[in-house]
Amino acid sequence: MKNYYITTAIAYTSGKPHIGNIYEIILSDSIARFKRFQGYNVFFQTGTDEHGQKIEEKATNKNQTPKQFVDDVAQIIKGLWDKANISYDKFIRTTDDYHEKQVQKIFKKLYDQGDIYKGYYEGWYCTPCESFWTESQLVDGKCPDCGREVKKAKEEAYFFKMSKYADRLKEYYNNHPNFVLPVSRKNEMLNNFINKGLQDLCVSRTSFKWGVPVDFDSKHVVYVWLDALTNYITGLGYDVAGNNQENFKKFWPADLHVIGKDIVRFHIIYWPIFLMALNLPLPKQVYGHGWLLQDGEKMSKSKGNVLYFDDLAEVFGCDAVRYYVLSEMGFENDGLVGWELMTEKINSDLANVYGNLVSRTIAMTNKYFNGTVENTFESDAVDQSLIEVVEGAYKKVESKFNELKISDAISEVMAIFKRANKYIDETCPWILAKDESNLNRLKTVLYNLCEAITVGTTLLAPFMPETANKVAKMLNTKLRTLDNVQKFGLEKQFNVTNSPEVLFPRLNLKDVMEKAEIIKEKQIKEYMQESKTEPNKNAKTEVSNKTENQAKAIIDFDTFSKAELKVGTIVNSEKVEGSEKLLKNTVKLGDEVRTIVSGIAKTYNPQDIIGKQVVVVTNLAPRKLKGILSEGMILCAFDEETNNLALVSPITEFKDGCEVS
Ligand code: MSP
Repeated sequence: MKNYYITTAIAYTSGKPHIGNIYEIILSDSIARFKRFQGYNVFFQTGTDEHGQKIEEKATNKNQTPKQFVDDVAQIIKGLWDKANISYDKFIRTTDDYHEKQVQKIFKKLYDQGDIYKGYYEGWYCTPCESFWTESQLVDGKCPDCGREVKKAKEEAYFFKMSKYADRLKEYYNNHPNFVLPVSRKNEMLNNFINKGLQDLCVSRTSFKWGVPVDFDSKHVVYVWLDALTNYITGLGYDVAGNNQENFKKFWPADLHVIGKDIVRFHIIYWPIFLMALNLPLPKQVYGHGWLLQDGEKMSKSKGNVLYFDDLAEVFGCDAVRYYVLSEMGFENDGLVGWELMTEKINSDLANVYGNLVSRTIAMTNKYFNGTVENTFESDAVDQSLIEVVEGAYKKVESKFNELKISDAISEVMAIFKRANKYIDETCPWILAKDESNLNRLKTVLYNLCEAITVGTTLLAPFMPETANKVAKMLNTKLRTLDNVQKFGLEKQFNVTNSPEVLFPRLNLKDVMEKAEIIKEKQIKEYMQESKTEPNKNAKTEVSNKTENQAKAIIDFDTFSKAELKVGTIVNSEKVEGSEKLLKNTVKLGDEVRTIVSGIAKTYNPQDIIGKQVVVVTNLAPRKLKGILSEGMILCAFDEETNNLALVSPITEFKDGCEVS
């Protein structure tokens, strides 16, 4: 049996992974399942990347040790992978004892053989990316990878001689044109890094402790990427001393590393070079998939718009979410995800096409033949076209898998179901049923539909394993094997269930959005809770960027409507004694006149604003300022950077007391 080793990137344990992170795991899972179906002896490895400064800081903020912190998060991640029905063979953690020991030995070996040397680093450091940058590498003074703030850093450090291997790397690219897919990602790396001359890479840190210690120089911990990348070999039992375990002998080099486009550099430059230095064969292929974006917006917890697999699966079901992400993300481009988009696609593809086909076929088989149909060979020309689509599907799906065009592979499977639905329209079983002399023909029609569903469902299984098993049970049949997936008419008869489950109930957008709203509110609450227990959350972690910090939580319309805003005219204004900031204003709001104290004295003199129209929050609880009862709030625009302030007015004169909404 041929071996096949597939890996995913290992997820950071800095927090719960979102739907974008898990997309990659689902993608790899579908490839692993397809390869198993093809008869490969598959080893599918995934896991968690648990070291680094970011994690150390997060743990401190939670009053936990880093190990306690990563134990909790790794548990959450494993739980999510299990919920998504990921058929991994190994879940590696970079805090696993065996891994850590091997990382230390690898570092020592590379040092002893002169690939790693001790030096001094002075430059800019991006904590979230755990990367050093030179001044010229920064983009607008920010990290060129993630665009976040960087800080000045100066450290004694170990360096890896990257440039020594640059030519060999280029040669490998040339001799293996499919090493990196899509090819555009390789070209990007060649142009941006390799052709410009590879710089030596800083592979140790002294500014924090949470890493694999360099065992011969305890001030240093190993650079997280050197630590993390080696998971692909330590997980198989690679041993620097040469006592490699069976799995390593069987499965290395990897057939496929599946990763996101943002970490291609680490996988197609650093990783192959580390392997060359260890004198190990290089992986056969690296696939850098695109990103899943939330309705075009950045996901942010404070806005409550981070999409998590478990939330989505609760509303749509596990397989529907798997289906959505796999079919939405193309080979090269980014994909979109969002509640509305998912509702639409799940309804149109899974409820209307697949679910409907299965439920109609089962219902008609029950109605006309008490649930049992066999091939009566009363064929018609129209059958041939259905049979051709079904018999030809495997080859098409296989070829899409070979190219890693997984969303196209799903489309090929869906083409069977679409064709079968059309076959129902063409054969009109309900008309055949009206005439007894057509019953044998009707039997063949329903038998053909059961066959098409069985083959299609077999091919759907790598993407939607749970659904595939359910449907096989409903038809009381077994999914096909590789030997017979291209054959039509194998089953003697189908004896379908008389109590079919609705596979994909039609979703009502309003209901979905209501559920989404509840999830959003829960997320915002959790975020606020976390912010309370993590005093340094925004100041220190640097994970959240500036816009994210400043953005307030999203509120729903009902919450907004609770504020009463009215147009008013300032009819009098005077300084508040003993205060440099406050003015006491008299504001006319229709028939009503109120006293409102505002902190605008540094910008406006009282005489300048008398007669001006303003917008007032009229239902704020009154409060006393410098002993004066203030009955509302006048709205102002405020620029935090310059301290500029301006009253907000309707742009044309308006009747006092009118509502602003
Ligand atoms: N720990 C590193 C990987 C080390 S591999 C030796 C890492 N972790 S991560 O948790 O940030 O990302 C895990 C994977 O998710 C990466 O492949 C990354 O590219 C991918 N994605 C992150 N955001 C994503 C989307 N929005 N959409 C799709 N994939 C995304 O990087």
